[in-house]
Parts: sequence; C-alpha cells; structure tokens
Amino acid sequence: MSSPTVIGLDTSSAALGETDAQLLVVGSFAPSEPNGDDGDVGADVQRRPVLTPGAAAVLDGLDDAVAELVALGHDGAEGSTVRLRAMVGGSIRTVLVVGLGTAPAFSVERLRRAAGTAVRAASDAAGIATDLALNVPADGTTPAQAAAAVAEGLLLGSYRFERYRSKPKPSRLVRATIVGLDAAAQAAVERARIAIDAVTWVRDLVNTPPLDKRPAALADLVVAGFEGSGVAVRVLDGDELIAGGYGGIVGVGRGSSVGPRLVELRVSHPDAKRHIAIVGKGITFDTGGYSLKSTSGQETMKTDMAGAATVAAVVRAVARLGLPVEVTGVLALAENMVSGDAQRVSDVVTMRDGTTVEVMNTDAEGRMVLGDGIAHAAELGADTIVDVATLTGAIVIALGDLIGGIMANDDALAASIVASANAVGEPMWQLPLAIDEYGKRVEGTVADLRNVGGREAGSIFGALFLHRFVPKGVRWAHLDIAGIAWRESAGAYQPKGATGSPVRTLITWLESLAAE
Ligand code: BES
Ligand code: MN
Ligand code: ZN
Repeated sequence: MSSPTVIGLDTSSAALGETDAQLLVVGSFAPSEPNGDDGDVGADVQRRPVLTPGAAAVLDGLDDAVAELVALGHDGAEGSTVRLRAMVGGSIRTVLVVGLGTAPAFSVERLRRAAGTAVRAASDAAGIATDLALNVPADGTTPAQAAAAVAEGLLLGSYRFERYRSKPKPSRLVRATIVGLDAAAQAAVERARIAIDAVTWVRDLVNTPPLDKRPAALADLVVAGFEGSGVAVRVLDGDELIAGGYGGIVGVGRGSSVGPRLVELRVSHPDAKRHIAIVGKGITFDTGGYSLKSTSGQETMKTDMAGAATVAAVVRAVARLGLPVEVTGVLALAENMVSGDAQRVSDVVTMRDGTTVEVMNTDAEGRMVLGDGIAHAAELGADTIVDVATLTGAIVIALGDLIGGIMANDDALAASIVASANAVGEPMWQLPLAIDEYGKRVEGTVADLRNVGGREAGSIFGALFLHRFVPKGVRWAHLDIAGIAWRESAGAYQPKGATGSPVRTLITWLESLAAE
C-alpha cells in the first residue's frame, strides 16, 4: 500500500547537472579548525565552509562560490541551509546548500538528517535532485548505506499528514531524485523503501484520530494492510477473547462499546532458525479509565497504539524483505474508556496464562493487555519475545522524547537491539530489570500480582510485571516507547506528531538475526 503522505522518489546514475530538476541539493562541510583555514582571524569573521566535490562541480559557474556562501552567512553548520542561483547544465537553477557539520563528525545519521533538512527547506520547488549520497561517511559506511540514508531522510522528512483538513495544504514538492548512484546503491534504495513505507504506515495509523481507529476499525486497517502479502492473519474478537480467558485484554476493553481484539500475524521461512514474536500495545485511546487522566494527559493518548502499529509494520516489512526468520506479530487492541461496565480499581482479573491480577490502577492498562499478548506469543512457541509499548510516563521523564527505554531478561538480546537502534538513529538505553531489588513489589494483596507499585522506578515496575508472563527459557526484551513514539517539535526527518520509531530499529535487528 503506497502512502500519499510522502513524496515520490527516483534514483539515477546521472550527474546532478544532467537532471532537469529546478532545485539542486548539495552539501558543504563546516571547517573542523576553530577559525577555518585562514589562520588567526577575529571572532567576527565568518568561518569558511568546505564545499563537497559535488557542490563544487555544480557551483563552478560562480566566480567564488565559497565567498558567496560566506557573504550569505553559511558556514556548513549541521542543519543550516542557504540558496544560491547558479548556471548549471545550460540553465539557471536554484542550488540549496545544506550544512553537513564538520567532516570528522560526519556520520550516516548526519547524512539522513541533511537529506531531511533539505527536503523540508525545498517544499516550494516542484522537483529536486541531490547528489548528497556521494558524501559517504568515512566510518565504515558503504555507498549503498549512504544512498539508503539519503532516501530515508528525503522521504521521511517529506511526510505530511493532511487527510483530516477540509482543504489539504498540498506541498508543491512532489518528487525527488537521488543522483550519482550505481546499481548496488539503487538496489539499496529499493530495500530502504520497504522500511520507509513501514515507518510511514505507523505514522499514518498513530496520527489517525481515535474515533477512526477503535479496536475493530484498527484491526480492519491492519488486515487491509496485509492483503496479498502472504502473511497469515488471524483476528480474535471480544467474544473469542472472553472464551479464551484473556482477562487482561477483556478487562481493559470492558469500558468501551467496541470490544477488544487480538491480531496475530505470522510470517515463516523455510530457512528460519529462530521464532521471534513481537507483541505490541494497542490501546486505541487511553483515557486512563476510572483512574482518569487529566485533559492534558489525554491529549496525546491516540499514540497509545504505537506499539501495535509498529509490530504490524515490522511484520509486513519482514515479509516483503523475505527475511529467513519466523516472525509472529501479536497486537493487543483495546480502548481504555469509562462506562457503567468499566473495570473498577481493585477488581481482580484472571489472565490468559492463569495468573490473577489486582487492577489497582486502571490507567496501568498497557501491561494488562501485554501480559495476555506475551502469554499468547509464548503459546505459539516463540523462543524470543520482544514487546513494544508506550507503557510509562516515567520513561519520558527518564529519557525524554528522543531515547527509548529497553529492559530485558537477557543482556545479549538487549545489546543486539540497542546496537540496531544506534545504527539507524533511533537510540535506546537499557534500564535494569532489577528482579532481586524490586521483583517482589509486583505481588498482590489478594491476587497473585498487582498492576502498580509506587511512583518510583515506574518503568522498571512495568517491565517486572510483564516479566511474570514470560515463560522460563524464553528470551525477552521490553521496549518502552512512550517517549519516542511522538514528538512535539519537528526533527530533521521527523515532523511534529507520530515518529514511527522504533520501526527501523526492529527491521534492522531482524535483518541482523537473519544474517547470523
Ligand atoms: N499510555 C500511558 C503511558 C504514556 C504516558 C504514554 C505518556 C505516552 C506518554 C500508560 O498507559 C499509563 O497511563 N501509564 C501510567 C502508569 C501508572 C498508572 C503506573 C503512567 O505512566 O502514569
Ligand atoms: Mn494508561
Ligand atoms: Zn496507556
């Protein structure tokens, strides 16, 4: 399913000057010496940017392109842009110069950001072309990886969610071309499109208003996204969940007039050595239930299904990439509402695996649906389970909106996911599971467990609760994405709103497992 929320992208082996794009995007580095290469100059003297070879070629019609950039106040600083007019390939074009920062600090993430910055700065042009992918970071990055990063920056940076405006504000920019790519780099861009499409799908689903993605509707949207994919899809409805004893999901869903759903997505491969399950929290809206959230606390709670959307998008990408792994996605979907039949504080529910839980806070609902989701994944025989959830406000306090939290019963598993996260620019930080220290705090007064502890170590408590549903011998990691799923201010290739993180992390991690 192609998404209308991003621009079109072409690749080409041509040189920048050979394209007919109206706006050409090139890079410039910041001088790595404090005052440029001029030696001892005063602090008020502009630092001279260092043109990349591609930029120098395109700007060679300008008598002194660097002097022109200096006059315009451009020093190659990361995230800065400036426009020049230059004679290129026989016609006058606009050249957008994007700062790449200093050469020693250059990285694949900086390249991704530069492409995102450029596409956002070029929204008034009809078409753009760029040779940014020719700037391959000298840190082991391959030309193919650089091309993929530029594609990611351009497409993810162009994302706009306009479908709920009565008069959509169309972007003038509809196409970008990445030039200078050999066949291998062009193939890498085609692979990158699959992950970009996954990120875009998550952004679209998360940005969708909660009325339009109540559990039944969200299940339908997910199923529609798998049409023709070859992935085995199964949806359990409210009655089947009651009959199956999924007390956590059923309890959370009680307050809504639309019953909960569990969606199971299975991809297999004849060469698969492992069976990995990814389980997503899919609260289509989190009012808190009778432990009601404030108005401001509810403002971003349509994001509370970001984990489930991530799982769906990652499974679809795995299928499209044909990775030799067996992956099962489990989406635990419910709407956390209040009504005459909603859960009460101190109700006891029996979870799918037989564990009983005292619901001491109806706003700690994510762990209730995930406990059942994890049990379901374990029953299907997964040897590794990764859950993805906007689980705790505490992780936002600890790590903010740009770093995700991870807790695991296996440090090597956590390290491999963190490595993938860092590689794709979606950083994560491991917190301790702290079973010896805090493990007893999840124990209930009248039932086996309680769903909240104190205020302290809230994210760890959430993980300790989930850990009780992971069978012995199963490797498990919990990704708390409450901070990174949504941002209030735009980044270079992430607009305000849904980010689609950590989709690229999980795809990259599954690719690394497939390569083992
Ligand atoms: N969905 C929220 C967590 C959340 C908070 C996500 C902020 C995104 C941004 C979750 O269901 C929740 O309400 N958690 C409670 C847990 C508490 C009651 C133990 C929280 O973090 O306050
Ligand atoms: Mn909640
Ligand atoms: Zn929630």
